[in-house]
Amino acid sequence: MELLDKLNWRYAAKAMNGNVVPEEKIQRILEAARLAPTSSGLQPFEIIVIKNQEIKEKIKPVAWNQSVITDCSHLLVFAAWDTYTADRINYMFDLTNEIRGFKNEGWENYRQMLLSSYPQKDAEENFNHAAKQAYIAFSQAITAAAFEGVDATPLEGFDPDAVDEILGLREKGLRSAVLLPIGYRKENEDWLVDLVKVRKPMEDLVTVID
Ligand SMILES: Cc1cc2nc3c(=O)[nH]c(=O)nc-3n(C[C@H](O)[C@H](O)[C@H](O)COP(=O)(O)O)c2cc1C
Repeated sequence: MELLDKLNWRYAAKAMNGNVVPEEKIQRILEAARLAPTSSGLQPFEIIVIKNQEIKEKIKPVAWNQSVITDCSHLLVFAAWDTYTADRINYMFDLTNEIRGFKNEGWENYRQMLLSSYPQKDAEENFNHAAKQAYIAFSQAITAAAFEGVDATPLEGFDPDAVDEILGLREKGLRSAVLLPIGYRKENEDWLVDLVKVRKPMEDLVTVID
């Protein structure tokens, strides 16, 4: 199947059947998220993978009681940095130097530029920027899931403060941004499964400037 066929196959499943997704598929989905591009390569987020049913049960009521929270196989929580700090920026630049095995003046100047801007900004502004980066990885995970023939329901309908509390995210300098239950569609209980996918026409989406 071509990529576009898979993207047409995928939809935001409203009901899942509780079947477990094989670990190797989950790992490939997470790897796709890890490979996502991010601003300055900072990857300012973490992904919490919840397999534990009790934790899923705790999250469900603070996520509009959406059944996919508990009927999914793995619940991914994309949690963004609560702000940019010098340590966090330095970690990624040092990691780059370590992996590439050399230091580059231009890259070091760029590090200093980020160090002199991000950490001084308002934490809320930084979190919003970090959350945008998390969404890029989230989108890649959705596409990768489709590629694996696995359903994934993008989910913003939850109380982030409550999820942060349940998972102890604030203590780790993280804030939940968006959720992604991964599992298998329960076709006989899902009103959406047979409905035609609706997207606005290309001409309303794309403007070509020759
Ligand atoms: C960021 C984001 C948040 C969403 N939140 C929810 C949600 O909380 N519950 C839900 O059932 N669907 C949610 N959706 C699914 C969208 O409604 C769905 O993706 C959109 O209508 C397009 O339909 P499709 O994904 O089935 O093709 C969300 C989608 C995105 C991208």
